[in-house]
Amino acid sequence: MRTILVANAKGGCGKTTIATNLAAHYANEGAQVVLADFDPQRGSIDWLASRPSNARPIEGIDATDEGLRHLPRSADVLVMDAPARLHGAELSEFLRRAETVLVPVLPSPVDINAARRFLDELRSAAPVKNRQTKVGLIANRVMEHTRIAGVLEHWLGARREHLVATLRETQNYVRASAEGRGIVELPPYIAWQDWAQWDPITAWLSSRRSLPS
Ligand SMILES: Nc1ncnc2c1ncn2[C@@H]1O[C@H](COP(=O)(O)OP(=O)(O)OP(=O)(O)O)[C@@H](O)[C@H]1O
Ligand SMILES: [Mg+2]
Repeated sequence: MRTILVANAKGGCGKTTIATNLAAHYANEGAQVVLADFDPQRGSIDWLASRPSNARPIEGIDATDEGLRHLPRSADVLVMDAPARLHGAELSEFLRRAETVLVPVLPSPVDINAARRFLDELRSAAPVKNRQTKVGLIANRVMEHTRIAGVLEHWLGARREHLVATLRETQNYVRASAEGRGIVELPPYIAWQDWAQWDPITAWLSSRRSLPS
């Protein structure tokens, strides 16, 4: 089973948006997908509840209390939506369950500072140090040609973090989220730019570089 965690201690950076869009992507590829929501706010579970009945099925697990006890063994892909303020032993426990962790970061000074602490913690966690969990960054809600977007990219480059993709700021995510859809399920004439921005994410996730080594 392919296991992907979406995490960042900072709230509101796009964890649920990326987790739900990933789940929709794999479901549309015909995979049996489980979306496990570890956040008491249950954003992913709410998204699943508003998913149209004719959309490709995704199984939801409300993992806040039960964890992954009911994870079906037949699942092809497990996407885990982590809660904000994830630190320490709890973070390590999540990392142990994931082959890959995707970290969304917003281009703002506050978010970059928070990301510094979170990435330092990630790098010192045993599963990441032992290369059992690979880390990829996603710059999210990026407005093109803004100075701060360049600052974020430069900062990640200087840290030698792997920036997998940059996602633009667009109401398409807000709209898709309200409809229980992924960006992949919006009409191409609306979402083609976003589809193109997701290509490097799905390509990296299917490459060996995102898997334990
Ligand atoms: N690329 C984007 N463009 C526009 N809006 C976005 C984008 N990504 C996320 N959002 C919006 O930003 C808000 C926060 O996103 P989201 O809920 O995914 O963050 P989160 O990290 O899961 O938050 P929390 O820490 O509260 O769980 C949501 O309203 C979402 O629709
Ligand atoms: Mg969330």
